[in-house]
Amino acid sequence: KRVAVLISGSGTNLQALIDHTTEQNSNSSAEIVLVISNKPNVQGLTRAEKAGIATKVISHKDYKSRDDFDEALHASLTSAGIDIVCLAGFMRILTGGFVSKWHGGFVSKWHGKMLNIHPSLLPSFKGHNAHEQVIKANVRISGCTVHFVAEEVDGGAIIVQESVPVYHGDTEETLAERVKKVEHTAFPKALELVASEKALLNSDAFISWR
Ligand code: GRF
Repeated sequence: KRVAVLISGSGTNLQALIDHTTEQNSNSSAEIVLVISNKPNVQGLTRAEKAGIATKVISHKDYKSRDDFDEALHASLTSAGIDIVCLAGFMRILTGGFVSKWHGGFVSKWHGKMLNIHPSLLPSFKGHNAHEQVIKANVRISGCTVHFVAEEVDGGAIIVQESVPVYHGDTEETLAERVKKVEHTAFPKALELVASEKALLNSDAFISWR
C-alpha cells in the first residue's frame, strides 16, 4: 500500500514508521511514498528527505478556508496514488467532508484509510493537551492510541493502544517522553494491521479483524 504521512513538527513518529517499513526483511505491506507538512522547515521534512521520500509543504496559511486547504491536500494525495494516510503529529483538524463516510451525500475516499496517533489512552483525555490533563487527573496509567480518523476529533475506532505508568512527580515533559517511546512501536503496528487488511473499518465505531 502507498502511504502518505502528514506532519507538523519533529516527526519522531514519522521516523519510527520509516524505520519499520524500510527495515530489511520487514516484509511490510506499507511503503511511505510521500510526507506532507502544513509547516515549512520542520525537522520531519528533513527526516523524509534523508530517507529519500518525496516531501511537500501545504501551508494552511495559503488557503482561505479549511475546505480549500483540505481540497489541496486531497488533490496531492490523489495524484500521488495514496492508499493510506497517517497523521503523525499533524496539528490541523480536517473537515467532515475529508474525513467522514457520509457528508453532504458524498463518501470520502479517505474514510477508513486514515490513521491518527494520540498521546493518551482514548477515550480519556482527548484534545491537544493530553499530558496536562493526565497529570491533573492524577491517574497512574497513561499511554497512546492509534485510531481510525472519524469526524469527532480523537473519536474514531481504536486499532492499537500501549500503556505506560505515570509516576509521582512526572511533568508533562517526562510523561511525554515515556509515552513517545510506546508511540514509536504502536504506530508501525497499527499501520501494518491496516495495510495488510487485517483491520478493516466497518463503521465509525467498529473494526472487523481478520
Ligand atoms: C505525538 O505525541 C503524537 O501523539 C501527537 O503529536 C506528537 C507528535 O510527535 N499527536 P512527533 O512529531 O511524531 O515527534
